[in-house]
Amino acid sequence: SKGCKLVGCGSAVPSLSVSNDDLSKIVDTSDEWISVRTGIRNRRVMSGKESLKELAVEAARKALEMADFDPNDLDLILMCTSTPEDIFGSAPQIQRELGCRNSPLAYDITAACSGFVLGLISAASPIRGGGFRNVLVIGADGLSRFVDWTDRGTCILFGDAAGAVLVQACDAEEDGLLSFDLHSDGEGGRHLGAPINDNETDELLGSNGSALDFPPKKSSYSCIQMNGKEVFRFAVRCVPQSIESALEKAGLVSGNVDWLLLHQANQRIIDAVATRLDFPQEKVISNLANYGNTSAASIPLALDEAVRSGKVKPGHTIAAAGFGAGLTWGSAIIRW
Ligand code: ACO
Repeated sequence: SKGCKLVGCGSAVPSLSVSNDDLSKIVDTSDEWISVRTGIRNRRVMSGKESLKELAVEAARKALEMADFDPNDLDLILMCTSTPEDIFGSAPQIQRELGCRNSPLAYDITAACSGFVLGLISAASPIRGGGFRNVLVIGADGLSRFVDWTDRGTCILFGDAAGAVLVQACDAEEDGLLSFDLHSDGEGGRHLGAPINDNETDELLGSNGSALDFPPKKSSYSCIQMNGKEVFRFAVRCVPQSIESALEKAGLVSGNVDWLLLHQANQRIIDAVATRLDFPQEKVISNLANYGNTSAASIPLALDEAVRSGKVKPGHTIAAAGFGAGLTWGSAIIRW
């Protein structure tokens, strides 16, 4: 079967930067508390008429430019997001904005902060076996729209962003997706979510709990609800196991790997995973101080910065892992 390779990357963030001090004006918190517990100092937040679609298109264009690639030659666009601006999905609108004239398939993938890793793996199979040559994978989320800005336990963590990579068919010897490991645990899902509003469900069921009220009312989603301690424990337990399993499938150990690139949720999670896997500080990619947790965008955003700054060079091996709501988690070993 064919190989597939990442050949370009790009990213985009909203213009409004919100610092920890800014947050301390709207909730009872401090720069010190947030920095020490999370490593986050700033996050970007969509405002005014900014849209997630715009960010995704900007990130996509930059990735295509880096690869000197014509959008008309795309076979597939995967938009990994849990916050689409249309419940039916946003990928076809991105396809339209990019001006792809040959109508490539475009669809959304919903897997929270694991979305981008899942997107990469979903790009690989139609390239390896399905005759596709060029797949654009976008990770983009606008969690600021689903955060309770009066809840200091969650509003300090998240930011908005988009990142993209172009995955292309290549000879098997040049393969750039060496192995993967993916999981989910619906049981643990209760620790992190933004479900349809309970009170509205109660209304739907009627005061006596019967399901006979008709027609139903329009639903809305609740804000992000999280048990931070449980999510922390889950990440520190499951992510190292997943990376170890992916490394084993690729016939590698952490000493052979140039970079550890985790979903950017919390610096303490990143440090704990790096320690567990014996990655020294200088091999760990981290930019969450500037952007907070950008969900499906965090890995391609950090990758893009690391590539453009010359840290990640052609031939480097990267152990990437996403984890989050679902619960979902997974790793991919990438050769850039
Ligand atoms: N400022 C000041 N005090 C705060 C704040 C805040 N922003 N938030 C909570 N506190 C207080 C709490 O009220 C509590 O006070 P109490 O002891 O008087 O009750 C105290 O600080 C400790 O709160 P905890 O929630 O126990 O704090 P913890 O040490 O667990 O840190 C945190 C919280 C940072 C959220 C941590 O649990 C964490 O990072 N968990 C992982 C979360 C995560 O990464 N989620 C996203 C991953 S998945 C995805 O990306 C969607």
